[in-house]
Amino acid sequence: RARVGVLVSGRGSNLQALLDACAAADFPAEVALVISNVPGVKALDRADAAGVPHRVIPHRDYPSREAFDAELDRALRAAGVDIVCLAGFMRLLSSGFVTAWQGRMLNIHPSLLPSFPGLDTHRRALEAGVRLHGCTVHLVTPDLDAGPILIQAAVPVEDDDDEDRLAARVLEQEHHAYPRALRLLAEGRVRVEGKRAFLS
Ligand code: GAR
Repeated sequence: RARVGVLVSGRGSNLQALLDACAAADFPAEVALVISNVPGVKALDRADAAGVPHRVIPHRDYPSREAFDAELDRALRAAGVDIVCLAGFMRLLSSGFVTAWQGRMLNIHPSLLPSFPGLDTHRRALEAGVRLHGCTVHLVTPDLDAGPILIQAAVPVEDDDDEDRLAARVLEQEHHAYPRALRLLAEGRVRVEGKRAFLS
């Protein structure tokens, strides 16, 4: 089974979806380590409850982004991690770190990329008046939220949606999409050519 390191910053509902998927005997990956850059977050409790090693690496303790990322890298390698999953990890990563893990690092993003990269995606989708919103799981490249896409799920926007209602329906789809994408990558069924990912 592929050893997965999950980077989190908060609630950890996507981490939970990955932990639940990994609990199945036929799932090709296991969570080897959870790292949070923020102390005391719910994601750490979830790791604890699942009996998965977890640690806090507070980014504030490091003089630079590169120094913080170097510590992340050390921790992941020490745990024998093969694949990194960003799950609500709200820090930008340096291009050196991203390049070192390229092809082996996934992110989940709460929009149908390339629409609405960055933050506040649900508010921006409502403001833009789109009829379809959703989520994307993609490989991480040095360009923010722009790596090859593995899976997307579309969520229709309803007339009475507000940010919270829309976010909740997208989140439900995230919890399905992320384990599916991790399975594809862990089984070696992802091939990248340029900006495109091909799945077998
Ligand atoms: C999720 O909606 C995830 O897609 C988003 O943060 C939320 C984390 O929730 N990620 C980003 O916005 C990345 N820029 P969770 O902690 O419950 O998984």
